[in-house]
Amino acid sequence: MAKCIKIRNFDTFLFIYLHLLLLFKKNNMKHLFILLFSIVSSSMIFGQNTYEARQTRTEWFREARFGMFIHWGIYAVPARGEWVKNRENISTENYQQYFDAFDPVDYNPAEWAKLAKKAGMKYAVITAKHHDGFCLFDSKYTDYKATKTLARRDLIREFVDAFRAEGLKVGFYYSLLDWYQPNFERKDEKFDEYIDYMHKQVEELVTNYGKIDILWFDYSYGEYRGEKWKATKLIEMVKKHQPHVIIDNRLGGNMMADTPEIYAGDFGGPEQITPPAVIKDNAGRPVPWELCLTLNNSWGYNKNDFNYKTAHNVIYTLINCVSKNGNLLLNVGPDAKGNIPKRSVEILEEVGEWMSANHEAIYGCGPAQLEKPEWGWYTQKGDVIYAHVTNFNIGQVCLRGMDGKIKSATLLADGTEIRLGEISNINTNGPYVGKNDIFLTSLMPRMGTPPPNDASSIKVAKLLLQK
Ligand code: GLC
Repeated sequence: MAKCIKIRNFDTFLFIYLHLLLLFKKNNMKHLFILLFSIVSSSMIFGQNTYEARQTRTEWFREARFGMFIHWGIYAVPARGEWVKNRENISTENYQQYFDAFDPVDYNPAEWAKLAKKAGMKYAVITAKHHDGFCLFDSKYTDYKATKTLARRDLIREFVDAFRAEGLKVGFYYSLLDWYQPNFERKDEKFDEYIDYMHKQVEELVTNYGKIDILWFDYSYGEYRGEKWKATKLIEMVKKHQPHVIIDNRLGGNMMADTPEIYAGDFGGPEQITPPAVIKDNAGRPVPWELCLTLNNSWGYNKNDFNYKTAHNVIYTLINCVSKNGNLLLNVGPDAKGNIPKRSVEILEEVGEWMSANHEAIYGCGPAQLEKPEWGWYTQKGDVIYAHVTNFNIGQVCLRGMDGKIKSATLLADGTEIRLGEISNINTNGPYVGKNDIFLTSLMPRMGTPPPNDASSIKVAKLLLQK
């Protein structure tokens, strides 16, 4: 099907219209040439923002499904979360003590990258600058950066090198808010100076570190959204340097619209909430999305927060996301010395064990066109359906309406055959069971599985569909 070029910008429309007029009037080759050039260039800019172009750009992202979020900065010193300056009303002068004390002697991003890879993660997004304005990267537009602390080096450069070396994709979180820059949130023309600063820093991030896979802007609120950030200009600049990069949806556009703004984003970013279903745009088409989630209840290192999720919770959530066409970006908050908290490491390692046996049911998978079963979730890739049994379940696992549709069933973790059949207890046949229901009779002990408490209790049955 021929792709039509949509003209979404009045200036472009006027430009083309005028040249058409001149062309007809003068029958002039020069105008024909300018006209063709303007059509091609406008389609290059705006064509990037069609649904199809976004699907192509996000292909690797939808395949990857699982990433690591890293919140790290000088707020790790007070260790009360990344909002500490704002929440406790700490002046910039008083906050300076944390800049002076920041000395990440244990920072070894190669270890972080190995951990992410072991956990089954395929990409990582790090806070290049958070709301407090401190930059982990060597920006030439500020001295409020890692190179001026006791670290004396560009911590982002090392992050990028280490994660790429493990074959992971890399992304930068960049805070639109900035509590250090005096021109931020001004109501006068000085605000433009902040915008200029912000654009220049983003340009540094997309030009000094090679190929960047994700840009994660955070966040818009009230009148501070969209063109208040000069978002069109910002993203045109970004795309000039990194045409393939994918961006989140927090610059304030509407990615659900039929013709989203160029800055509307490539994926939705629900925070600390799993959406109840596949997320769709206004035309009813599924859009990529990513749940961002803390491992305890804090993004930045918080020494008093021991409310950790279990590995079981994490895997359960990951499967939940994938079954709705989403990703999971799971956060770690390294401490002031550069260590990922011990408990986080343990959880990620346990997640990794499960992933090494079951990743096939996650990577590149999406929703199955089946009703959600009570014992867990389905995911699907081509003609394979994965039945993830995550919940406590009495009796054999029922695949509703699937009788005659499955060629074979095996346990994904070790390839063991799973027998399919009718439920063996005669008293439960008949009115209790649907006509087309079939059971995985040898997946679980017949009298009920023990309540799930560790990750290994999550079993995945691989169901090959009849052609
Ligand atoms: C919120 C918070 C921020 C955190 C982010 C992660 O926007 O302000 O601290 O980085 O969520 O999604």
